[in-house]
Amino acid sequence: MSVKTMHTPEVKELLEKVAGLNQAGGNERVKTIVHRVMHDVFQIIEDLDITPEEFWSAVYYINELGKNGEAALLAPGLGMDKYLDIRMDAEDEQAGLAGGTPRTIEGPLYVAGAPESEGFARMDDGTQDGETMILTGVVTDQDGQPLPNTLVEVWHADLKGGYSYFDPSQSEYNLRRSIRTDANGRYTAQSIIPSGYGCPPEGATQALLNQLGRHGRRPAHIHYFVSQPGYKHLTTQINLAGDEYTYDDFAFATREELVCDAVRVDDAAAAEQYGLNQPFTKVEFNIQLVASDKPEHQQRHERKRALEDDIA
Ligand code: DHB
Ligand code: FE
Repeated sequence: MSVKTMHTPEVKELLEKVAGLNQAGGNERVKTIVHRVMHDVFQIIEDLDITPEEFWSAVYYINELGKNGEAALLAPGLGMDKYLDIRMDAEDEQAGLAGGTPRTIEGPLYVAGAPESEGFARMDDGTQDGETMILTGVVTDQDGQPLPNTLVEVWHADLKGGYSYFDPSQSEYNLRRSIRTDANGRYTAQSIIPSGYGCPPEGATQALLNQLGRHGRRPAHIHYFVSQPGYKHLTTQINLAGDEYTYDDFAFATREELVCDAVRVDDAAAAEQYGLNQPFTKVEFNIQLVASDKPEHQQRHERKRALEDDIA
């Protein structure tokens, strides 16, 4: 049986009281948002004839999600991070700031304060016997002029798909580095080819994905923050080509310009160039920044990040 009550004065008044619209205090922006959100939730309950059983299972689902700290893991899985990117791309377009290397989602696993070096960094602690990766590229402006002294922050998962800090079995800042580009605008990292990532299989995020008939996998990927005064801050990642999930990422981060080949190099002279005495896999990712003199464009947006408040 489907009943319609949303149009009644009783429900209208209830929503106004819920959002504190009849109170002087509080925050107007929060009131506006809560009023709209609760209106739309009530409307969904009416339109989809949500049963009390469905409603209470959703309430306890949110408890589970929060208990495991998974809300910021679920958000990308539901396309919310991607949607914010779509909006920021459209805003850039409108402001004449489009172009350069495309952004993509940050994900929930950044940790502030990684060791900083110039030109080159070794990222892995040597405890995992992975395929050696040389990750390198040049940061330029839109005319192709190199941008020396650009801060390139890089982080990625280990062979088990886990990230240091969140996976306490890894050493501090394993697979996380901040590299300043050299005089030619180049950064180079030696690391190990990461594995793809999967949501915790017993977690609340995966439980919902299961209900949707979806997997919770990401392809092998490497995260970047790139910053240089006078240029738009860039949050992006590369997805390695040839992964089963390169074009089937549960977090919707893949963009064609951000898919990079991982090229096996067997040549001994090439290895020696990087101080290696064995074959390795090279991943090349050049980055183009877009000029902007607006300070608000030059910083990453604020959100809660591990250890960030301790650093700033
Ligand atoms: C998630 C994990 C990641 O490594 C990432 O880059 C983005 C999202 C997640 O668990 O939601
Ligand atoms: Fe990630």
